[in-house]
Amino acid sequence: RFDAVLFDLDGVLADTAHIHFAAWRRLAEELGIPLEPRFEDRLKGVDRMTSLDLILAHGNVERTVEERRVLADRKNGYYQAAIAEQSPDDLLPGARRVLEEVRAAGLKTALASASHNAPPLLDQLGIRPLIDAIANPAAVKAPKPAPDLFLEAARLVGVAPGRCLGVEDAVAGITSIKEAGMVAVGIGDPTILTRADHVVPAIADFHIGDYLG
Ligand code: BG6
Ligand code: MG
Repeated sequence: RFDAVLFDLDGVLADTAHIHFAAWRRLAEELGIPLEPRFEDRLKGVDRMTSLDLILAHGNVERTVEERRVLADRKNGYYQAAIAEQSPDDLLPGARRVLEEVRAAGLKTALASASHNAPPLLDQLGIRPLIDAIANPAAVKAPKPAPDLFLEAARLVGVAPGRCLGVEDAVAGITSIKEAGMVAVGIGDPTILTRADHVVPAIADFHIGDYLG
């Protein structure tokens, strides 16, 4: 009943979710805003500007639009420096196998990542050839948790939403998949990813055969 699997990138295929958070934490510290570890789940899957706004609100700090743009750029600089050396060794265990198995089963693969750094990162990780389409977050109206990015990924591979499986580690991403009318596989903790249809602890535990009855 599935013709495509739409993947998030950060925290699903690559171990980069904590690198995003480390970059935010560094910026927040510079602003005098301590970020406790559990704040990470609130930022997962959330686009760059909204993440900054959540952090500023958390610290009761106000900044102008121009100042916020500079701060967001600074965080992106920290993030890009941290991922500069990423290579195929940095794929999460099982990620390449999953992409290969999905394709071998005759399904399309697509990326639905909120990150503007996703295309170069896919090249560094060596998995771009295993992905049929990349949804561009700049090309959709509303970011996750709205359904737009997953719907765009489905459109790019020509598959109806009802025949797509979405794979996500973020609460915002699971909401996006469900709002798009797709089946959601969560990667992580079922007590956090409560709207997911299935949850597995890691991408290594994902086997497409489990979903093709
Ligand atoms: C998501 C990450 O994949 O991309 C978020 O989970 C990040 O943490 C978002 O904020 C946007 O990424 P970027 O690279 O465009 O700042
Ligand atoms: Mg993610």
